[in-house]
This record gives sequence, structure tokens and C-alpha cells, in this order.
Amino acid sequence: MPKRVKTPVTATAKPPSGPYREDLAYIHDEGFGEFAANAAPWLIDLLRSHGLVDGLVIDLGCGSGIWARELSVCGYGVLGYDISAAMVELARRRVPRGEFQAKPFLTARLRPCVAVTAIGEVFNYLFDKRNTPERLEALFERIHTALRPGGLFVFDVALPGRVPGGCCRTYTEASSWACLYEAKEDSQNQTLTRRITTFRKSGQLYRRDSEIHRLRLYDRTELTAQLRNAGFRVRTVRDYGKTKFPPGYAGFVAQKR
Ligand SMILES: C[S@@+](CC[C@H](N)C(=O)[O-])C[C@H]1O[C@@H](n2cnc3c(N)ncnc32)[C@H](O)[C@@H]1O
Repeated sequence: MPKRVKTPVTATAKPPSGPYREDLAYIHDEGFGEFAANAAPWLIDLLRSHGLVDGLVIDLGCGSGIWARELSVCGYGVLGYDISAAMVELARRRVPRGEFQAKPFLTARLRPCVAVTAIGEVFNYLFDKRNTPERLEALFERIHTALRPGGLFVFDVALPGRVPGGCCRTYTEASSWACLYEAKEDSQNQTLTRRITTFRKSGQLYRRDSEIHRLRLYDRTELTAQLRNAGFRVRTVRDYGKTKFPPGYAGFVAQKR
């Protein structure tokens, strides 16, 4: 009888999962960081003009820490949360004095703070199945509780009409990566689906990855009402200074009374 050969038990490598994985996080940081970078001076002026010149700022969906870095340089403490571990790793490298946690914003621990920010459609993303309009409204209340009187809650969201014509395709390329992008808006269900394929140079080859991002589109009037119910004074804005918003987009500046 032939001798049975024992096959060694090997651990099957689990493919990386979740949103904004390593390559898209890198590409977002390198190729699409200007939204946060250009918004930062306006946001800093906004905080200062409300007398918030230091103290803790909590940044929800902090991404790779572009805005967090400006906060840190300007003397604020920063606590950032992001659902993407790859983004959090980039943020930790960029802002050594900041604190960053790979966690969904709904379960973020909100310490007493002078401001809370969420820059770049953070609340629209449906990566976290618990992210419902009801939970978001409850988060507004928790943020209100965490803020000191006069503290600011600043964020922006995608609204219906975010993709004029309902569908768009673009590509962006750089020396070490390329990114193919398709967005489709479902106006009936008020959702937006983005398909993103990335190619990133790795040695002589290019690694391919793809992600699908689903977003819920919010109603400006409803969000304003929810913020007011939570106890905020609210105004909406069309830009963060040099960062002009595209169609179907709104910024909110909410102040705790
Ligand atoms: C368009 S990026 C903006 C990143 C960063 N704020 C900036 O402006 O560069 C959106 C970010 O929101 C994060 N995000 C989406 N859903 C989230 C959730 N439920 N909890 C925490 N972060 C989330 C994503 O991982 C991503 O980093």
C-alpha cells in the first residue's frame, strides 16, 4: 500500500476586506486629498471666529488625517475615527500627536470637545449597516451632549442630484496608480452607487482591486430640522472657502447653544 503523504495544514490567506482598503486609501490620500486640504484654512478660521482656539476636536471619518494634521499643527487635540484600518494607519503616520481609532462613527466614544467634524460625505456611506437615518439623528444628539456650549459641529453630505444625469464615469491616473470610477444615482431610492477599480504599481506589475460604495442621499431640510431638534443653531453652506461643493451637496455648520 502506498504511504499516505500528510498534506501540511496551511492557513488560507484571507483577502483584505472592508472599504477603503490599502490601495484605495493610498490613492484617495495622494490623488483626492485636496478637498480636505483646501477646506482646512476655512475650517480653522471658522473655529477661531467662534472663540474655539484650542481643545479637543473629534473628526469622524478622518480618512488619512489631512484635516487632522492641520488641527494638530494649529494647536488643537485630535481624536479621529474611521471605519477603514488602512486610512487610520495613514492618519497615525501623518499626525503622530493625534489619536486615531479604526471604528465606525456610530460607536465612536465622544469625549467632551470643542468641535466635531465629518468632512467628505462621511455620513452618506452605508458601509456600516447600522447607519440608518434614525441612528444618525441619535448621533446628532450625542454630539450635542459632547460639545461644550458654543461648540461647533461641521459636516457635509451628498444630496439628491449628486450625479447630474444619473450616471458618470471618469478615470484618474498618476505615475504609480490609476483609478476608474463609475457613479450611478438611483433617484427613486435616493441612493448612489460608486464602483471604483484601482491599479497600483507593485514592483514591475500593477495590483488590481475594486470596491463598491453605496451611499444614502440626504435631504437638506430634514437634516436641518433634526439638528435643530437636537438643540443646535444651524446654517448650511455651499463651500468650505476654497473647496467649492459640487451639485447635490451641502455643508452644515451647527452650533451648540
Ligand atoms: C471621502 S472619504 C473622506 C476622508 C477625510 N475626511 C477627508 O476629507 O480626506 C470618507 C471617509 O469616511 C469613512 N467612513 C465611511 N463610513 C464610515 C463609518 N460608518 N464610520 C467611520 N468612517 C466612515 C471612510 O472610510 C473614508 O475614510
